[in-house]
Amino acid sequence: MEMKNTKSQLDRMLTMEMTRVVEAAAVAAARERGQGDEKRADQVAVDAMRRELNNLPISGRIVIGEGERDEAPMLYIGEEVGSGGPEVDIALDPLEGTTICAKNQPNSLAVIAIAERGKLLYAPDVYMDKIAVGPGYPQGIIDIDASPTENIKAIAKVKGVDVSQISTCIMDRPRHADLIAEVRSCGAAIRLIGDGDVAGIIHTTDPDETGIDLYLGTGGAPEGVLAAAALRCIGGQMQGRLILDTQEKKDRAARMGVSEPEKAYDMTEMASGDVLFAATGVTDGNMLKGVKFGKKHIETHTVAMRSSTGTVRWINARHEDATKF
Ligand code: FBP
Repeated sequence: MEMKNTKSQLDRMLTMEMTRVVEAAAVAAARERGQGDEKRADQVAVDAMRRELNNLPISGRIVIGEGERDEAPMLYIGEEVGSGGPEVDIALDPLEGTTICAKNQPNSLAVIAIAERGKLLYAPDVYMDKIAVGPGYPQGIIDIDASPTENIKAIAKVKGVDVSQISTCIMDRPRHADLIAEVRSCGAAIRLIGDGDVAGIIHTTDPDETGIDLYLGTGGAPEGVLAAAALRCIGGQMQGRLILDTQEKKDRAARMGVSEPEKAYDMTEMASGDVLFAATGVTDGNMLKGVKFGKKHIETHTVAMRSSTGTVRWINARHEDATKF
């Protein structure tokens, strides 16, 4: 992994500290699983995440959050969080997959990424075209400007399997009708997901466990930056291009500092420098178990990772004191 042994502003202790932040958000959201109320599930996750974030010894600035200041009362872009310490930028999604949680379906997560100041792409809340593949492939194997068929064939060749053995993950949306038709006609398999493309992209990093080799399609740009942060740590390749199809979106992107609106960003440009990433499962998923409420304790399952060392920690936590959440 790049940047090994280089000096970073990020304290390694932060990896454990940020784990508490995602655990708290996940437990709060999990209490709302299956209740059919996306807004409430999101709100309790936001409240819990903000409370914990403000205990972190950082001077944090949210760059990817719940929205812009006028539309999000908390964890808005530009909000300062933390109790004081190194200056860092934060991307977060207290509940990634609000609908999944409200329906109690697989793979909703509480997610955070922390990076050195200025090292995350300040992505506006627009769509992003995304392509991602896990570790073990030569650099440049995927190309957002190549056709889905070309990308799938390239991956099959390196993996040493027939195209029919390659499994893609695509969000089930009408905007993906042509993409889905092409992938099917080239012979690769598709897992259609209803929501949650951060998990969909992370799933490419362990195809044996998840059955996903390649992620394709358009989802939220903020989620794209979070997924890029995760792949920077765990390995893999990802590219993303903002979809700025109106003047209003172009202006908004420009105000956030996007100087090359047409650019295909590599994951190292969406999340550069030393990056920490953590996610806790809210509902059960392919890589993370959801929160379990026992008689005496609460169990959470979290992945916490760091790009500069490439360390990936899977943390099964048993919380005796349910009142702390
Ligand atoms: P929320 O958690 O905000 O509901 O987002 C879920 C999600 O599925 C993301 O994972 C994805 O990037 C985005 O929504 C896709 O947006 P849309 O539902 O408009 O296709």
